[in-house]
Amino acid sequence: MKVDVLLGLQWGDEGKGKIVDVLSPGYDIIARFQGGPNAGHTIEFEGLKFVLHTIPSGIFDPQKQNVIGNGVIIDPFVFKKEVLQLKSKNIDPSNNLLISKKAHLILPTHRMLDAVYEKSKGVLKIGSTLKGIGPTYTDKVARHGIRIGELSGADFQQKYAALKETHQRIIDSFGYDTSLFKIDGLDFLSYETQWFESLETLRHFKHIDSEHFINQSLKQGKKILAEGAQGTLLDIDFGSYPFVTSSNTICAGVCSGLGIAPSKVGKVFGVFKAYCTRVGSGPFPTELFDEDGTLMRDEGHEYGSTTGRPRRCGWLDLVALKYAIMLNGVTDLIMTKGDVLSRFEQIKIATNYKLNGTLIDYIPYDDSDVEASLIDMPGWNDDIGKVTSIGEFPEALNRYIGFIEKETETPVTIVSVGPDRKQTIFR
Ligand code: GDP
Ligand code: IMO
Ligand code: MG
Repeated sequence: MKVDVLLGLQWGDEGKGKIVDVLSPGYDIIARFQGGPNAGHTIEFEGLKFVLHTIPSGIFDPQKQNVIGNGVIIDPFVFKKEVLQLKSKNIDPSNNLLISKKAHLILPTHRMLDAVYEKSKGVLKIGSTLKGIGPTYTDKVARHGIRIGELSGADFQQKYAALKETHQRIIDSFGYDTSLFKIDGLDFLSYETQWFESLETLRHFKHIDSEHFINQSLKQGKKILAEGAQGTLLDIDFGSYPFVTSSNTICAGVCSGLGIAPSKVGKVFGVFKAYCTRVGSGPFPTELFDEDGTLMRDEGHEYGSTTGRPRRCGWLDLVALKYAIMLNGVTDLIMTKGDVLSRFEQIKIATNYKLNGTLIDYIPYDDSDVEASLIDMPGWNDDIGKVTSIGEFPEALNRYIGFIEKETETPVTIVSVGPDRKQTIFR
């Protein structure tokens, strides 16, 4: 067996959580391989709505095993809140969630560092979710992070204190009055107290050698779906650096984030919105600053699932989409949120960029000055939220999808027409 992969092809929030939930009946195991609580994956069914940050989106079926892989970083405080959110709706993840011993912990001072670094950058700030992602991955690579497997060690407190002291020295060197910095609305000491309390929830779960579990499961013929977080254009290597996250969000991240060989990757599902959104700073060639952008934001409820920030909105960018398909080896495209464009009579798509007056068909090394070259297409101008089969698709929607398939040479096999599990059409 192979591991199928589902990941985002834009700047995150493509609707990955919804689609993983829809596809999960076809799998035995759902595994997150990178990122941390910067992710916010929304799942809606039977009138319920959940936003998951660390826990895989397969958690709603007690028959499915869910794995938080070694490539993920975990904040016990956020994790506990997720567990409580699920339990409040009678979903108990205790028996179908496994956590890699090699996943790293986000400490309260990682979050403080994130805030300090962002403040020091001024107008050049990344627009981070301030969940401590950059500093935690930095410590992992610098080889002094703390892993889940160390939670049960006798010297955990000592290790915590040593790393906190190192962080404190860096924080002090910036000279800010950090008593003014709040973490999720709490002052540092209150947050730290709650963080320690939350460790108990984390300790309660099964901590495993997830690379062995995943590979043995493959040998036993189990079907595994890897769930990406963020999106390809936020990848640490291939995104618009430095306005990126701190992990490999692309398909290659599955190998290091779960411990599988490249030859074990099967299908690659690439999720994209029918338009584009971005939260945080950085280039966005098709961004709209007019009423079209406002209409997209309003119709698509484009506000961050993790931070509540308004998302920047713009037209679909085929140059960027083709780049993402190339980097990930996408076998199946999944288009979400076409229903959001229902009120547009005309729709635009970027097919090229203009750089210093020249037309180019790739993302250049420095993409801060590119301008989108757009074509017009007729909109479907019809509410597609209640459509139940492709036979009911308006002709203009078929043409839009057909154009994307032709340009990307990749089939669009699923179209999502609303946030609910049921609003999903297989082609
Ligand atoms: P993720 O991070 O990729 O899982 O995406 P988010 O959950 O952050 O953001 C996607 C948002 O769009 C969520 O509020 C979803 O409920 C919603 N959503 C997903 N698919 C669709 C769709 O096809 N149409 C509409 N209107 N909303 C969708
Ligand atoms: P999901 O999984 C959208 C963005 C932040 C910021 C940059 C770096 O829900 O799609 P970080 O907190 O990683 O230091 O932020 O990346 N970002 C996301 N944008 N969806 C996400 O996750 C994101 N995770 C991080 O807004 O621009
Ligand atoms: Mg999200």
